[in-house]
Amino acid sequence: MAASFANKVAIITGGAGVIGMATARRLVAAGARVALVDRDAGRLRANVAQLGADKAIDIAADVTNAADVAAYAERAHATLGPIEAFFNNAGVEGPTASMSDYPDDAFQTVQAINVTGVFLGLKHVMPRMRDGGAVVITSSTAGLRGAPGFAGYTMSKHAVIGLMRTAALEGAPRRIRVNSVHPAMVDSEMMARIERDRGDPVVMRDKFLGRIPLGRYIEPDEVAALVCFLMSDDARMITGGQYAIDGGAMLI
Ligand SMILES: NC(=O)c1ccc[n+]([C@@H]2O[C@H](COP(=O)([O-])OP(=O)(O)OC[C@H]3O[C@@H](n4cnc5c(N)ncnc54)[C@H](O)[C@@H]3O)[C@@H](O)[C@H]2O)c1
Repeated sequence: MAASFANKVAIITGGAGVIGMATARRLVAAGARVALVDRDAGRLRANVAQLGADKAIDIAADVTNAADVAAYAERAHATLGPIEAFFNNAGVEGPTASMSDYPDDAFQTVQAINVTGVFLGLKHVMPRMRDGGAVVITSSTAGLRGAPGFAGYTMSKHAVIGLMRTAALEGAPRRIRVNSVHPAMVDSEMMARIERDRGDPVVMRDKFLGRIPLGRYIEPDEVAALVCFLMSDDARMITGGQYAIDGGAMLI
């Protein structure tokens, strides 16, 4: 039986994206009210319309901007109440280029969104959380091993593990749990972009599929199921951990 989130409040960054929205769907179906945060205001509004205006609010914000982050945390708290669950999930893949060709400015941008954005979220949301709440950070299998052509992304996704472990220790006295999820390739626009960037998309998809023993990309809803488990009371003794959802990709 799926865990209940009845009357609980969640914030989801990257709420305009596929994994954020899949997680919002599950949380709302389990009774939660959610604040979706993203810089893409148009897609945010469309997602909130799908979820229902009584179940979700949209907050346009840039996660790299400290004032925006303080404002989204404050507005979600003021509008919906104390936060039970925080999905710190917004992220970008950055360019595909070997390290010698990797543009410096793009490297900084990827760290700003994927690392500073996660840090600012923890900084401003955790004080507004209920004791016993849960945070999940989206890393990647690229946070657990090297990925040639993705220096900025791999660094950022390793870096958030340090934030996750520190936040887990800082949150423990209030029983706030913090974990990270590490998906391999998810069926998404992000992967479609990466396939196009790397050459012939059909050839690239086949190549990527060859790296997943279970033989297919992960569905956004399958990531959402793991996230919701980690946020739920069933996971009440799980904190400070890294959870791959990868179809066995880390085995090879
Ligand atoms: N798609 C995959 O294959 C895959 C695999 C592993 C990990 N991930 C991670 O999952 C997370 C969600 O990605 P997704 O697959 O849903 O992709 P997505 O592109 O659909 O969603 C990412 C969202 O983040 C938002 N965003 C980017 N920069 C932002 C900023 N500065 N401020 C606010 N919002 C911003 C985007 O507008 C977008 O809506 C990311 O952290 C990504 O790195 C994705």
